[in-house]
Amino acid sequence: MDNRAIGVFDSGLGGLTAVRQMHRIMPNENIIYFGDTGRVPYGSRSRKTVLQYARQDVAFLKEHDIKAIVIACGTVSSQVLGDIKTENSIPIIGVVEPTCYAAMRLTKNNRVGIIGTKGTIRSGAYEAKLHTLDPSVHTIARACPLFVPLVENGRFLPDDRVTQLVIEEYLTEIRDFGVDTLILGCTHYPLLRDAISRFMGEDVNLVDSGAEAADYARRFLTSAEQRQGCTEYYVSDDIDSFDAYAEMFLGEPAGVDAHLVDIASYGKENG
Ligand code: DGL
Repeated sequence: MDNRAIGVFDSGLGGLTAVRQMHRIMPNENIIYFGDTGRVPYGSRSRKTVLQYARQDVAFLKEHDIKAIVIACGTVSSQVLGDIKTENSIPIIGVVEPTCYAAMRLTKNNRVGIIGTKGTIRSGAYEAKLHTLDPSVHTIARACPLFVPLVENGRFLPDDRVTQLVIEEYLTEIRDFGVDTLILGCTHYPLLRDAISRFMGEDVNLVDSGAEAADYARRFLTSAEQRQGCTEYYVSDDIDSFDAYAEMFLGEPAGVDAHLVDIASYGKENG
């Protein structure tokens, strides 16, 4: 029985979609969440910067008594998961692999779309994994850089006209390609689920990368103790805005105030 917490991080609020699923499927686990809200977005940054930020995020989480880390960020998982795994001895779980397994279980016509940040799509990590699982799969990928700012500003409701226009711009080609499964390869995108589903059609499966990573984590990290776990939240900027928005991502009140972290002071030796 290992009652240490699970560390979870993302560039901002998106990783709370993984925490939401963790609260649902492993309510006994303690969670330490870090959202790098002072440096979001990661998606448009170079691999080198993403690696530096990810190392600092990990260094902060490891100051707590944690047994594993869930990288609830498509951008970090798709570009630097290998480096982070090599540098750390505790289990590190990213979003790409579990999400690809889920997509291949769901697709019937073997046509899978992938959307994510610029960095995620540039890395080709989702396509590479899908092709490893089934070399005959047909994939189409598209970066959707405006989705994160829309979500972080609360503009994700299906009737929002700006959001509808952006969705049409990004997803028309993917819809025309005839996918029956679409990977939401960025953990912010599940907030846009209803709007995306309305555009793609209800028959298209939408795969939530944060939730898939949470399911994967549960398979080997569950605690046997029957108590209610607790979650601590840390961000690198604007605590008030976190408190206001977290509820939308979590689907429940965050319950406690977030703490502020000077993330740039962490992990300097790796920078
Ligand atoms: N939530 C992060 C991801 O999954 C990205 C948002 C960002 O660009 O920082 O990729």
